[in-house]
Amino acid sequence: MACSAERPVTSTSRAFEGSLGTPPPKAAAPKLARYAMVVSAHPEASKIGTQILQRGGNAYDAAVAVQFALAVVLPAAGNIGGGGFLLYRDRNGSAGSLDFRETAPSGASRDMYLNEKGEPVTALSTAGALAVGTPGTVAGMVTLHRQLGKLSWPALLQPAVALATKGFALTTKEAAGLNHAKADFAKYNTHGAPAYLRPGGGEWQPGDTLRLPELARTLTRIRDQGRAGFYKGETARLLLAEMKRSGGLISQADLDAYRAKWREPLRGRYRDYDVITMAPPSSGGVALLQMLQMLEPVDLAQTGYHTPLAVHYITEAERRAYADRATYLGDPDFGLVPTHKLLDVDYNKQRAGSMRSRGRASASADVTAGANLPGYESDQTTHFSIIDALGNAVSCTTTLNGAYGSKVVVPGAGFLLNNEMDDFSAKAGSPNSYGLTGGAANAIAPGKRMLSSMTPTILTRNGRVALVTGTPGGSTIITSVLQSILGIVDYGFNAQQVVTAPRLHHQWLPDMLFVEAGALLPAAQDTLRARGYHPQPELPWGRLDIIHVLPDGTLEGGADPRGDDTAAGY
Ligand code: GLY
Repeated sequence: MACSAERPVTSTSRAFEGSLGTPPPKAAAPKLARYAMVVSAHPEASKIGTQILQRGGNAYDAAVAVQFALAVVLPAAGNIGGGGFLLYRDRNGSAGSLDFRETAPSGASRDMYLNEKGEPVTALSTAGALAVGTPGTVAGMVTLHRQLGKLSWPALLQPAVALATKGFALTTKEAAGLNHAKADFAKYNTHGAPAYLRPGGGEWQPGDTLRLPELARTLTRIRDQGRAGFYKGETARLLLAEMKRSGGLISQADLDAYRAKWREPLRGRYRDYDVITMAPPSSGGVALLQMLQMLEPVDLAQTGYHTPLAVHYITEAERRAYADRATYLGDPDFGLVPTHKLLDVDYNKQRAGSMRSRGRASASADVTAGANLPGYESDQTTHFSIIDALGNAVSCTTTLNGAYGSKVVVPGAGFLLNNEMDDFSAKAGSPNSYGLTGGAANAIAPGKRMLSSMTPTILTRNGRVALVTGTPGGSTIITSVLQSILGIVDYGFNAQQVVTAPRLHHQWLPDMLFVEAGALLPAAQDTLRARGYHPQPELPWGRLDIIHVLPDGTLEGGADPRGDDTAAGY
């Protein structure tokens, strides 16, 4: 069936379209497990999570242990100096989500990144102490554990303490990442060389041992004192000293005021599946559900995999959802976010109705946010998915924002600080480092959470968890999660095919169709060009880490081959 705005497709044109489709992705065999599984961005973190599950911990315990392990072994994105979102669905069917997104410090102000001409100074919001939002990760993990954990808090922290103390072998990718960031580490850490710079100088080699003794001491304080081990005492003192030294804004009052928040997840339906996903201040869930609603009337399986017509439908849904994102979405605690209206079925039917017939592109300049909503003007992240033996499921995405965040490592405390302030809209309509624009809804204000794209998502079918999905990738997160759902639901791929498949991305502005190598046949790109699209080759993005539950209950893990991602289970 075609979308409402589309004239019926003849069998001749369908055969032509079909010949332009991309063959199903070639991928390694997915990891299978009978009882429980962890898929994360690093083998050590997946191993630690699985050990926690085998020792009787539940999925929430494993999430805490994985998060802290990633803070050690994945310095680019794993963190205690950042924030994130965690979505869960428990074995009894209830679901919840935890928002531990960073907040703007109380000294922040709307125009803090504008120069005297009123133009954004991007360097200030993307690196250095002024780019740092008040971190939320430790508060998030403490809140999660207090409400849902089973094992003792120290038992969940100890593996990360041990890793930081003894050190661990750098993978090829992490060594390259640290070497790439070397100049920035030197530039933004003038008060002593951080452990992320190779002792004695030179380049890190794969297999080198990275020891993080200062981080180990900070993790030990968190292990022994919980929240106070980060937001008070020695860790807070070291963090505030760095803020003072380097012109950052975080104060003790900001640390004291920081709270993780439980939020009602968003729910939607796509074909036979119920979709549970993250509400604002992430834009991910709203945009994902909008796109799924716009795609629901399209028979994608019949339209073919990455045929020009299928790409047309998907891209136009993305274009419309991202236009709404830029206009309406922001922190719901600081202004009315019209989530209900944006997820209204008739609203999205009307949005999809403006898709051009015969697969032709709309121009982003002609696609504005949907009309008549009152009162508005406005890579590096990491994801893990967990299912425990009881059937509890966790989908968690956390971030420092850019790779290694602000590049600032707190002297004496050894952890990297985020550059999440760049996720605010520094000036209405000006793109941030992901090319995303925003308006008043995402303007900077003290204590406000910056809009995110992180999209931890869980699908259920007939009342049972069917898919746990999520990814890093900045603005591409939402479209990658969308493609993971289409891969499972519409195209019948296995979990490893889903995460391996080369991806596509459109985000309204810029009006480009970003294409990973191999995502589209050359002839399909020519056809899309002729239909008004602007395909643009792009380096690989995102790291989807997913768990697909097969009808017999077997857990099928997909670990993204773009990184060191690993599925482990038993
Ligand atoms: N910092 C990326 C995001 O939250 O979307």
